[in-house]
Amino acid sequence: MLKIAVLVSGGGTNLQAIMDAIEDGRISNAKIEVVISNNQNAYALKRAADRGIKNSCISPKDFESREAFNQELLSKINSYNVDLIVLAGFLVVIPPQMIAAYKNRIINIHPSLIPSFCGTGYYGLKVHEGALLRGVKVTGATVHFVDEGTDTGPILSQKTVEVKEGDTPEILQRRVMEEAEWEILPQAIDWIANGRVTVEDGKAIVKGSVG
Ligand code: GAR
Repeated sequence: MLKIAVLVSGGGTNLQAIMDAIEDGRISNAKIEVVISNNQNAYALKRAADRGIKNSCISPKDFESREAFNQELLSKINSYNVDLIVLAGFLVVIPPQMIAAYKNRIINIHPSLIPSFCGTGYYGLKVHEGALLRGVKVTGATVHFVDEGTDTGPILSQKTVEVKEGDTPEILQRRVMEEAEWEILPQAIDWIANGRVTVEDGKAIVKGSVG
């Protein structure tokens, strides 16, 4: 049974998608051990509590330095003995020591087709603002492993979403979530939980049929 920590900062709709997929069997062999937020007011924490999942907040604001926060975040996660860390809208830079300790065991959902509209400064609505400003006709979402860079790790899964005339960043964000994020994130977790994913030469390989 794959034990997962889900890290969140906001509304937690991706967390909800993971919890629903575990409940209805689209994700097998996995359980959420803990949900951790950097923000006490994150609605995601309530979603976890409502499902009886352990949840906790650790905020950089409560620490004297970023280094002290990083240490505490890592020891908190270590204390839950998880096999996989899922960043589901977690808007904090992952400390290098965590990336080293959990190599190829941290995944992130990003709301664009990487390598477009990703990297420093591209998070949440800003990603969709960038896509609309550039006038792309398709966008989408990406699940990738987390490495030392920002949105540079091996890509596990991507799904395209149409951009429509009249889209606002909010409308596009919602469509990308509904049509891509809430599908590919649970699916990628299921692949990992069932031993179907390896990383070779910086690329993620998924065994068996995809889709
Ligand atoms: C999601 O759209 C996720 O892809 C994005 O934040 C949102 C969180 O929503 N993540 C990033 O932009 C990471 N760079 P949620 O809290 O409802 O799941």
